[in-house]
Amino acid sequence: DEPDTLLPRAPVVTVMGHVDHGKTSLLDAIRQTAVTDGEAGGITQHIGAYQVNSAGNTFTFIDTPGHAAFSDMRSRGANITDIVILVVAADDSVKEQTEDSIRCARDAGVPIVVAINKCDLETADPSKVKTELTQYEILTEDLGGDVLVEEISAKTQAGIPQLLEKVRMQADLMDLKANPSRDAVGVVVEAKLEKGLGTVATVLVQKGTLKVGDAFIAGEASGKVRALLGDDGKTRFDSAAPSMPIKVVGFTGVPAAGDLFIVAEDEQLAKELADNRQR
Ligand code: GTP
Ligand code: NA
Ligand code: MG
Repeated sequence: DEPDTLLPRAPVVTVMGHVDHGKTSLLDAIRQTAVTDGEAGGITQHIGAYQVNSAGNTFTFIDTPGHAAFSDMRSRGANITDIVILVVAADDSVKEQTEDSIRCARDAGVPIVVAINKCDLETADPSKVKTELTQYEILTEDLGGDVLVEEISAKTQAGIPQLLEKVRMQADLMDLKANPSRDAVGVVVEAKLEKGLGTVATVLVQKGTLKVGDAFIAGEASGKVRALLGDDGKTRFDSAAPSMPIKVVGFTGVPAAGDLFIVAEDEQLAKELADNRQR
């Protein structure tokens, strides 16, 4: 894309960290809803994506599972993001999947903003977290480094606006832009079969604007956009701009998480390409 076609876009922010350190709770606090209440055993088993407006800024947030079994989802989450929020519980400090999250962010070349969570607990020791992080070459701002950090409580919501401000500061350093005027290109965040709708895939639009009626190919699947739905699965959109996560209805076949999603000339051509990939 030519430089003069590029316009500012929202940062894509992936929340990562050890199991139960409070990633989903942090997003709940940001969204003021209650996703954790509806999860089986309170364990995130998929990647959720939402867009949030706060103090005049738009952010795209991606939740990831902290459980050891979901390392591939963490690595995928890190690869489609601009910024990683590393959540570390102040009563538990750095753990195995904290390390894995740091590794994923490094491999993807993505800057980390540290959120030290559960600071409402009496056993919280945020200084210990910061000291332990130095062993991974994460030197936070208050220790003379350049990694932004905030002490928070997802439970009491303390520090949440300040954390969002740090994320915005990090994003401002990055000059994030995309061309909204071209055919859309994105990535499949997750896909599943839904009653009455067939395959529904959450697609993160990275460039261009995705519109109802667009033909597309994604991995070994293809189709034509019949509807674009919001995170609630109900709100309908006519289009989705860069950095917007959107639920796409209209698939033939099931794409895999991580598949590139590309708008095609027409549905027939997209189907032929997808059929070829299947062989
Ligand atoms: P996984 O997705 O399974 O990796 O977990 P998670 O990191 O999303 O953690 P989750 O938000 O499910 O929270 C785990 C537990 O910690 C829940 O019981 C939350 O209520 C609790 N919790 C989260 N944040 C806080 C906090 O700031 N303070 C306190 N006291 N508890 C918290
Ligand atoms: Na959990
Ligand atoms: Mg979770």
